[in-house]
Amino acid sequence: MPSAPTDPHPAGSIRPESGWTGPSAQRRIVLRGGLSGVIAALFAPMSGCAVSAGEAVSGTASGVRPSAVAASADPQLGFRPVAATDFDGITLPEGYVAQIAFPWGDPVGIAGAMPAWKEDASNTAAEQTTQFGMHHDGMHYFPIDSSNTHGLLAINHEYTDEGLLHADGMKTWSAEKTAKSMAAVGVSVIEVVQRDGQWEAVRPSRYARRVTARTPTVLAGPAAGHALMRTAADPIGQQVLGTFANCAHGVTPWGTYLTCEENWALYFRAPAKSDPHQARWGLRRGGPDIRWYLDDERFDAARHPNEFNRFGWVVEIDPFDPTMTPIKRTALGRAARECARTVQTREGRVAVYMGEDARFEYLYKFVSRDRVRPGGLAANRDLLDHGTLYVARFNDDGSGDWLPLVWGRGPLTTERGFADQGEVLIKARQASDALGGTKMDRPEWITVDPRTGEVYCSLSNNTRRGAKGQPAVDAANPRANNTMGQIIRWKEADDFDSLSFRWNHFVLAGDPGNERAEAKGSVRGDAFGSPDGLYFDSRGTLWIQTDAAASSLGKGDYARLGNNMLLAADVRTGEIRRFLVGPRHCEITGVVCTSDLRTMFVNIQHPGETPSEISDPDNPSRYSTWPSGRDGARPRSATVIVRRRDGGVIGL
Ligand code: FEO
Ligand code: CA
Ligand code: CA
Repeated sequence: MPSAPTDPHPAGSIRPESGWTGPSAQRRIVLRGGLSGVIAALFAPMSGCAVSAGEAVSGTASGVRPSAVAASADPQLGFRPVAATDFDGITLPEGYVAQIAFPWGDPVGIAGAMPAWKEDASNTAAEQTTQFGMHHDGMHYFPIDSSNTHGLLAINHEYTDEGLLHADGMKTWSAEKTAKSMAAVGVSVIEVVQRDGQWEAVRPSRYARRVTARTPTVLAGPAAGHALMRTAADPIGQQVLGTFANCAHGVTPWGTYLTCEENWALYFRAPAKSDPHQARWGLRRGGPDIRWYLDDERFDAARHPNEFNRFGWVVEIDPFDPTMTPIKRTALGRAARECARTVQTREGRVAVYMGEDARFEYLYKFVSRDRVRPGGLAANRDLLDHGTLYVARFNDDGSGDWLPLVWGRGPLTTERGFADQGEVLIKARQASDALGGTKMDRPEWITVDPRTGEVYCSLSNNTRRGAKGQPAVDAANPRANNTMGQIIRWKEADDFDSLSFRWNHFVLAGDPGNERAEAKGSVRGDAFGSPDGLYFDSRGTLWIQTDAAASSLGKGDYARLGNNMLLAADVRTGEIRRFLVGPRHCEITGVVCTSDLRTMFVNIQHPGETPSEISDPDNPSRYSTWPSGRDGARPRSATVIVRRRDGGVIGL
C-alpha cells in the first residue's frame, strides 16, 4: 500500500470554514442582449438538445439541492449532490468512500528500486526516477484479463512545484535539482489490484515503469528526421530525450496509452530576440522560473533552437511493455497538446480528437489512412503515422468544417512558408492561422457520448476574449472576459471521418447567482467554472472536472464556488450535480472508471498550490496539508479511489 493514510471523507465530514456562506435562494439565469440570441441560434440546429435559450433555469451557488431541474424517467444521476466548500479534504456524497493512493514520491514498484518517500524532500534524483512524479494529470486503467479488480494504471505527471520537490526549494540550484525535477514529470505505469475493497499497487511489479524528461523516445511520422528536428545531439532528428508537461491523454483501440505534451514551451530559455516561429509558440523571456536550461543546454533555445520543435507531440506508450521506447507521433500535429481522444469509424479507421489548451488556439482531428487491425501495437505500429490532420472551424450558423492541414493545399505552400508536410505539422499553429480555424477559449479534454456519438469538448476559460487587441467573441466562444468557460459539442455529418458537423453548447459554465451577467452561465444544477477534464463513462454519464486557478479560487467570479470539483451530468436532461470537491488549491485532473463502474479513479493535482506555483519550503503547507492533514506537511498530488459503500455503480 502507499504510505499515505487511507483518508475517507464522506459527506458527513464537510467542515465549512467560518465565514463560508452561500446564498440559498435559487436564482434565475438572465441571459442578456446578444448572448441569449446567440445561444438560441446555437441550440436550434441539433435535435435532442438538453437546454434551450430563455428557459427559466434554477441553479445553486453553494450546493443547495436543485429543485427545478427536469426529472428523468430513466434517472442517470442517483446521488445527492455535495455543497461547494473550501474544506481541505475530499468531499463526497453520502454513501461513497474515498481511498487515497499513489501520492507523489511513493515507489511505483520497480524491482530492486523502491525507496520510501522522505517527508523532508531529501530523496535523490535517482530515487525520484523510481517514484511517482508530481502533479498527477490524465490517467487510464488498463484491465488485465478484462478484470475490474486487477490492471495497470498509467498516470501523467504534468509539472513540478520546486518549492516542495527539494528540501530547500529553489534557494540554491544544482544539476542534481535539475535531474530530480526532470525525473518528477512524465508518466508512471503501475500494476494495481483490489483486495477486500481496498486498492493497492503491486510492488514489485514487472509492469512498473517511470517515463521521465530524460527517457529516450523516438519520433515517427512526417516530421521525423525533418531539418527542423535535427540537433547537435541528434543529427538525424529522430531521437528525443524525454517527454514532459504531460497533461491529458488518450487510449488507442489497440490498447496503448497516449500522453500529451502541453506547456512544454515554458521550459525553454528564449534567445535575446525570438524569431517569428518561436514567438508564435510562446518562446519569450520572462516566463516562469524553470531552471533546467542551467544544467541541460538543450533547453537553451539560443544554443539549440530546434530542440524546441521536438516537444508538443502526442506520445504513444505500451503500458504492458516497460521496455518499449515511447513514440512521438508527429502526424497528429504539434501543439500545447491537451488530450487525444480516439474513436473508430465504421470502416475501422481511427479518428483522434485533440485540444490545444492555450488562449485563442485550436481544436483538431486526425483521421488515419489505414484501418485498425487486431494484434495490439505490433499490428498497428504505423497506424498513427499516416492520415490527415484537420483544424476545426465553428461557423456562426451552427455548422462546422474540418479544414485539412495538408501541404500544397490552399495556403499551405512553400511560398507561404511551409516547405513540406513536416513543416506544416511542426508549425500547426501557423498552418491553422492560414486556414482560418476558429480560435477557441482553451480547448481541453474531449470525450464522446457512447449513446449518440456526439463529441464534447471543455473550453476552460479565456479572460482575454474580447479584450483590446484580442479576438472578439464569436458564436462558439460567446463571452468576453470569459472567466467561467463552456462545454461545446458536435455531431459529425455522417461518421467520425466526416468533413463537416453541427455544433452547439452543452453548457456555459457559471454561477447563476453571480452579479456579473457574463459569469452566470446556463448551468442547470450545481454551479461551476473552468471545466477541464471531461469523461463519458460507459453508462453515458458525463463527468466534468474543474481547474480554476489557485489565484482565482474564493475570489471574484469564483467567490462562492469553493474548491475545484468533479461534477456529473445527465446530458439528456442537462442536469449537473456536484459529486466530489477536492482539497484547497488543488485541481481535479484525471478520471477513469473500471468497466463495471464500481471503481472510479480521480487524480488530485497540486493541493495547496500557491499563486506563483512555487511553494515556500519553510512553509510548504500554507494552503493545504492534504493528504496527511499534519501541520507543516508537504501537500502531495495523489489518486483518490472512489467506491460506493454498497459496492454499487458510481453516480447512479
Ligand atoms: Fe494541463 Fe490544460 O490542463
Ligand atoms: Ca487539463
Ligand atoms: Ca489543467
